[in-house]
Amino acid sequence: MCSKIVVVGSCMIDFTCFSPCLPKPGETVIGKSFEIKYGGKGANQCVAAAKLGATAAIVASLGSDTYAQEYLKIFKKEHIDTSHVRIQENQHSGIAQITVADNGENSIVVVVGSNASLSLEHVNHAADVIRNAAILLCQFETPLETTLHALKLRKGYGLSIVNGAPAARNVDSALLELCDIFCVNETEAEVMTGVQPLGLSNMQLAVEKLLDKGCNTVILTLGEQGAAYASQKDRTIKLISATPVKPVDTTGAGDAFLGALAYFKAYHPGLSMDECIRRACVVATESVLKFGTHASFPTRSNLSPDLFV
Ligand code: RIB
Ligand code: NA
Repeated sequence: MCSKIVVVGSCMIDFTCFSPCLPKPGETVIGKSFEIKYGGKGANQCVAAAKLGATAAIVASLGSDTYAQEYLKIFKKEHIDTSHVRIQENQHSGIAQITVADNGENSIVVVVGSNASLSLEHVNHAADVIRNAAILLCQFETPLETTLHALKLRKGYGLSIVNGAPAARNVDSALLELCDIFCVNETEAEVMTGVQPLGLSNMQLAVEKLLDKGCNTVILTLGEQGAAYASQKDRTIKLISATPVKPVDTTGAGDAFLGALAYFKAYHPGLSMDECIRRACVVATESVLKFGTHASFPTRSNLSPDLFV
């Protein structure tokens, strides 16, 4: 059976310190607790979609360590198709060093490890899965040339969503032109455009610059403020607001949003963009109320049935 959503993206092992605050440069902070969990933007987005009930597949590259074996078990548990997950000999799985502060903010350093080996040939091998899905979802933690290749291979077969995270400076305009929806948060938008999207007029400016670079539709996620979007057809941004909450851990909130967006686009293709974004914001908001990434992503039964009609 074909998966409705395919992610070509990263897996990371998250080494997370919970701390009263984020350390300043040169500062040592005494943390409160430490956890090893499973993350990576690609895998997180895939799990977020699967938890909502999507059939999903991941094309990814893990290292030759026990973490990789554990990760395969997690994918199995979420019923994610792993037939295109490769184990790279003599490489370590990607890792993320994460600090989560009491106010829910986080900072992350990623060492991509085996994710760097996600190759064009690997993507070619998964061509059927990539072409037959309703949605292709990619991020920037795996090589950009591989993402570009996946988008080329997919051209003419259906919707592609790219999450430009983490921030990248020189993104090939071909990549931006090939994806239907390009989604970034405020910091990522600033790195790509030089405009800090604070306030309506700067949001509009940043989004316009991304449209000028070739994006078809741009979604700018705004944390607790929700998201804004615009397209080549209608370049004036539309704001979709989210319900403000008191977050405990915002790690992976963007991934919850992207996984949910892919879910609603795949399973409710008749919904307007406004409505898909609004529903994806609801899912992301849920995720910041719980610690961790996967564990904080809601399942369908945790959410109002209204979201699924
Ligand atoms: O978006 C959150 C994710 O970013 C974490 O799980 C970490 O692995 C980094 O990739
Ligand atoms: Na969370």
